[in-house]
Amino acid sequence: MFGEEIKKQFPIFQHHPDLVYLDNAATTHKPKMVIDAIQHFYERENANIHRGIYDLASQTSIKYEKVRAQVARFLGANEEYAIVYTSGTTASINLVASSFLLSRLEMGDEVLISEMEHHANLIPWQMVCKRKGAILKTIPVSKTGELDLAAYQAVLSDRTKLVAITHISNALGTINPIEEMIKIAHRQGVPVLVDGAQSAAHYPMQVKAWDCDFFTFSGHKLFGPTGIGVLCGKKEWLEQMQPYQFGGDMIKKVNFESTTFAKIPQRFEAGTTNIAGVIGLGSAIEFLEQFDKKEMANYVKQLGKYAQSELAKMDEVEIIGTAPNKTGICSFLVKNAHPHDVATFLGSAQIAVRAGHHCTQPLMDLLGIPGTTRASFSIYNTKTDVNQLVRAVKEVIFFFK
Ligand SMILES: Cc1ncc(COP(=O)(O)O)c(C=O)c1O
Repeated sequence: MFGEEIKKQFPIFQHHPDLVYLDNAATTHKPKMVIDAIQHFYERENANIHRGIYDLASQTSIKYEKVRAQVARFLGANEEYAIVYTSGTTASINLVASSFLLSRLEMGDEVLISEMEHHANLIPWQMVCKRKGAILKTIPVSKTGELDLAAYQAVLSDRTKLVAITHISNALGTINPIEEMIKIAHRQGVPVLVDGAQSAAHYPMQVKAWDCDFFTFSGHKLFGPTGIGVLCGKKEWLEQMQPYQFGGDMIKKVNFESTTFAKIPQRFEAGTTNIAGVIGLGSAIEFLEQFDKKEMANYVKQLGKYAQSELAKMDEVEIIGTAPNKTGICSFLVKNAHPHDVATFLGSAQIAVRAGHHCTQPLMDLLGIPGTTRASFSIYNTKTDVNQLVRAVKEVIFFFK
């Protein structure tokens, strides 16, 4: 079902038949049904939401709200949670930092993240901490790329106001034990935000079962459009949060002296939102719902494992991130070759990989490396893609010898 068969549903591969696309952690390609849904919306349904009372406007508003319920089901959230549309993971995290954390932090308080966080799950907390004289603390990452849970427990304190961790590391591929980590934080009464940017596409989401306080993801990493994302949060928290962007469609009553705000989630969706993006996201989730998430996760994992074991056979290759529980993300270094040179070489062979620090500069500094070359897999990739990668890396080694 996956691999070549599913690839047929992605028009990009018809336009680029030789493309070996291994940059799925950056963004995934879009199936025809998602592209069609967006085109259909603009051609036949386009109207603004929540405002017009004519037919097109009310139909679009209904569709927009239906996707919200679909997202909640997709994430395994129940009525204790609300879905806020944002422009992506970055915007979702910034929203929590500004609207949830800022007012709760006092001088000397602590916010806990891990050493493997993407800058999107680091800088917003760092900025808020700086404003409040609070301290950003980190959970150490081991040599294999795993979080040290004993150190995590030790660093959690009665000053910790929030834990923010990634479900899956975009740089190392490690799958973090978020359920256990949430339990540990909750024992101390600390809420947890999970950055699901790398996990939502392929893994079964259980936001309620995990008792997650906030969960974030981006549409473009799960076969949907760019510019749309989600903050799924416990209503208990969202209801206490003030909006941090103001304007149309988020108010209850306005006069020249003051404003009262709409209920959640609308309070956090100021202005005209990315309506076509929401429609595209709904279609992407529909696409994903055809598959068993466990099978998807396993397929992607196995491709990563195969790539890792084949690359590791070469003495000149060092794998960065060897945690036993990994997704299909394989970061590596080639002796004598800078990651950018490796990626350029692979690019000239139509193999699209990412090189650099992967927006995890502090992690790269800790590892003492400038960056890595990263191959990241999705359901349309195949073992043949891995074989092509391996063959090209052999050529890189020969070239840079
Ligand atoms: C783990 C992780 N968190 C956050 C982000 C930011 O996502 P976006 O740029 O879609 O907001 C990324 C993007 O690569 C990511 O991999």
